[in-house]
Parts: sequence; C-alpha cells; structure tokens
Amino acid sequence: MASSIEKPFSGRTAVISGGLGDIGRAIARALAERGASVSLGDLQPESEATEFLQSLQMCGVNAIYYTVDASKADQVRNWIDDCEKRIGAPDIIIANAATVTLATLQELTVEQWDAELRVNLNGPFYLGKIAAGKLVAGKRQGHMVVIGSWAAHVVHAHIPAYSVSKAGLRMLAQCLALELAPHGILVNEIAPGYVDAGLSAKIWATNPELREQAASKVPVRRLISPDEVAAEVVHLCRRENRHITGTTLLMDGGLSLGEA
Ligand SMILES: NC(=O)c1ccc[n+]([C@@H]2O[C@H](COP(=O)([O-])OP(=O)(O)OC[C@H]3O[C@@H](n4cnc5c(N)ncnc54)[C@H](O)[C@@H]3O)[C@@H](O)[C@H]2O)c1
Repeated sequence: MASSIEKPFSGRTAVISGGLGDIGRAIARALAERGASVSLGDLQPESEATEFLQSLQMCGVNAIYYTVDASKADQVRNWIDDCEKRIGAPDIIIANAATVTLATLQELTVEQWDAELRVNLNGPFYLGKIAAGKLVAGKRQGHMVVIGSWAAHVVHAHIPAYSVSKAGLRMLAQCLALELAPHGILVNEIAPGYVDAGLSAKIWATNPELREQAASKVPVRRLISPDEVAAEVVHLCRRENRHITGTTLLMDGGLSLGEA
C-alpha cells in the first residue's frame, strides 16, 4: 500500500516514454508510490490512460498523460513543455518506449528499419536532449535512465533492428552521462534479459512454447517481472545516487554468460 512506503521521491517529477506499456506502468507505479509526480507519454489515446492515472493519483501525487510519438522531436518538446507547465520540469527522465520487428535483415524493409531506429534510438536522444536540456538551463540536478536490453551486446539476428538500436542506445547513454555529469545529471542504462511482459509477452502470445524455451535458457531459470525492472529504476534515480553514472545495470539472469 502506498501509505506504508516512505516517500523519498516527493518533490520530484518524472517523465516516462512508453508510459502505458507494461514496464512503463511498473516504473510509474514505483515512482508514484514513493512520492514522485509523473507525466506518462505514449502513442495511445488519453482514454487508455484514465484508469491508470487515477490509480497513481491515489498515491497523493500528480499523474498526467500526454499522447506523444516519442520518435518526433517536436512532439517530445511539446510533451516536456506541457509537463513543466502542469506539474513541474522533470528531474527524472525515463526513456522506455520501444518497438520490435521480428524479421531478419533480409526480410526487414527499409521503412521498418528506419521506423524502429527512430523510436528506439532517436526517441531517447530527443528526450535526453530536451528534458535534460531544461535541467541544465535551470541549473538543476536529476537522473535519466534508458531501458536498454541484453540484445545490445549479444547478437539477436531475428530482431536485428532492435539489437542495433539498443547497442546505439547504450553508447548514447554513455555520451549523455559524460556530457551531463558536470551538471549533476546522472545517466544510466538498465538492460533486462527476458521480461515476462510487454514486447516479449507479445511475441510469446502467438508462440507460447517460446516462453518456456526462454525461461529454461536463463541460467537463473526464471523470467523478470516489470516490478523488478522498476525497482532498479528507483535505485538509480534515488537522491542519494550522486556517483553511479554511465553504467549498464545488466539484469538478464546470467543469459549473457552462456549456457548453465
Ligand atoms: N519485455 C521484454 O522482455 C524486454 C526486455 C528487455 C528490454 N525491454 C525494454 O523495455 C522497454 C519497455 O518495453 P515493454 O516490454 O514494457 O513493452 P510494451 O510494448 O508493453 O511497452 C512499450 C510502450 O511503448 C509505446 N510506444 C511504442 N512506440 C512509441 C512511440 N513512437 N512513442 C511513444 N510511445 C511508444 C507503446 O505504445 C507501449 O505502450 C522497451 O525499451 C524494451 O525494449 C523489454
């Protein structure tokens, strides 16, 4: 229950792209329960957000929604401006929106490649540039987390555009981390393996046997929950974190180590 949790994030404001997705919602809930106001941005119409926003507002925080295509810089700028006007300039920036196309490089169309890179890589750049830019201009400190993937460093030939975009995202996070460190803005990546929700769950919904295969492949023999990802976002964005920056927090249950 919200009331039984301390409120170490009160006075802070978070923006979360892809905020109506499974991991986005878990992050929003975890931050709101700890006292942060949140602005969720997603492609979906506002009506899709109503019930979820009400549940966040029960935590005693501001929770608002903005329909935004995170791959369009002008829309991201409008979203961040709206957030600043309504609930304050964000000091927690979560680049979480992403898409995945199940197609090899031979199968993938040029349009699919471009679209995926725009959402998964350009989107986090726009969010980092615009939202962190406001923090720098206002001489305020903050935290940014990008949701990456173990596919950034282990070849995923069945989802190559995704794999490449996440590899680029890792370097983007490191470049942002170095540039923003003197301003007291810390930037990190969380790289999950198989989460039992969201993008993976959509693939597993049509191929249920793939879910079992995935779970048995993970050395710790279990899948990750969105709440576990959200707990690490909380960890990296807490006020006390003044040194962890430019890192990748790999939470893949040992997948990257090979077979166990
Ligand atoms: N599910 C997994 O196994 C897994 C593993 C590793 C990393 N991740 C990462 O976690 C993050 C969240 O994914 P998820 O699994 O919760 O999937 P999800 O599909 O539940 O959430 C993604 C959200 O992003 C939104 N979105 C897509 N394109 C957008 C755009 N152009 N503008 C704004 N919003 C857009 C979608 O509408 C959706 O609500 C992604 O970055 C994904 O790569 C997921």
